[in-house]
Amino acid sequence: MTDLFSLKGKVALVTGSARGLGFTVARGMWEAGARIVLSDVSDEALQQALAALRVEGCEAAGYVFDISDEAQATAAVAAIEAEVGPIDILVNNAGIHRRSPLIDMPVENWRKVIDVNLSGAFIVGRAVARGMIARKRGKIINIASINARMVRPNIGNYCAAKGGIVTLTKSMATEWGRYNINVNAIGPGYFLTDLTKPLSEDADFDAWVKSEVPLGRWGRPEELVGLAVMLASPASDYINGQTIYIDGGWQACL
Ligand SMILES: NC(=O)c1ccc[n+]([C@@H]2O[C@H](COP(=O)([O-])OP(=O)(O)OC[C@H]3O[C@@H](n4cnc5c(N)ncnc54)[C@H](O)[C@@H]3O)[C@@H](O)[C@H]2O)c1
Repeated sequence: MTDLFSLKGKVALVTGSARGLGFTVARGMWEAGARIVLSDVSDEALQQALAALRVEGCEAAGYVFDISDEAQATAAVAAIEAEVGPIDILVNNAGIHRRSPLIDMPVENWRKVIDVNLSGAFIVGRAVARGMIARKRGKIINIASINARMVRPNIGNYCAAKGGIVTLTKSMATEWGRYNINVNAIGPGYFLTDLTKPLSEDADFDAWVKSEVPLGRWGRPEELVGLAVMLASPASDYINGQTIYIDGGWQACL
């Protein structure tokens, strides 16, 4: 039973893991036995994250690259596989916001969010899958959002990208399942991180979240770890192409 959720001996790469949900998920995978590789577009934030983990006794590897840049991502994946080892687990987590009503949204903001939040998962996912296909094993977890199913004004670019993540997850699962690769997604509700700070610091929005979510509060980043570890472990060997939401029950009620 213990081995069912063990990541012992596995190499796990988490994108956008210098902070927030990615950092917490990576640390949780280390606690479950994995050798973790942090990666981020910000070198400064990455170094701080690696230092914080070292204090806890975790010697993580760290790589700086932009997930939406194919040349950077491909080179980084090759370097990780040569220097750390074959990647067994990939978490496509990095994501951004550029908030604005659709009617006024600069096309560059639309493109930037699609490029990072959707194309980035395709680019890094494919680069890592090439090795997984050759080895005939792998677990890929894409981070979607509650906004793939329930949208809000001013984030039309983000909602479209996250809706795309749900279907990209199905496409990856469909094409790569025969190589013993599981691809699933996690759809978080509202969690307290830097990304959602503009919302949690807005008293009206904060009160609205607490009144709408049956559990009456925002999610804590560590509350993603259990599902992420399960989807990376043998416990999920026949789960493929799914998006599982962690939203405190929000989508269960009107
Ligand atoms: N926080 C929430 O409530 C919430 C809810 C649903 C989904 N999500 C999703 O979870 C993921 C993580 O969110 P978070 O709240 O931890 O965000 P965050 O802003 O705290 O962290 C995101 C990290 O990604 C990095 N990053 C940004 N662009 C990058 C790029 N092009 N290449 C590499 N790294 C890049 C940032 O530097 C940052 O360290 C995102 O995909 C987000 O859309 C978050």
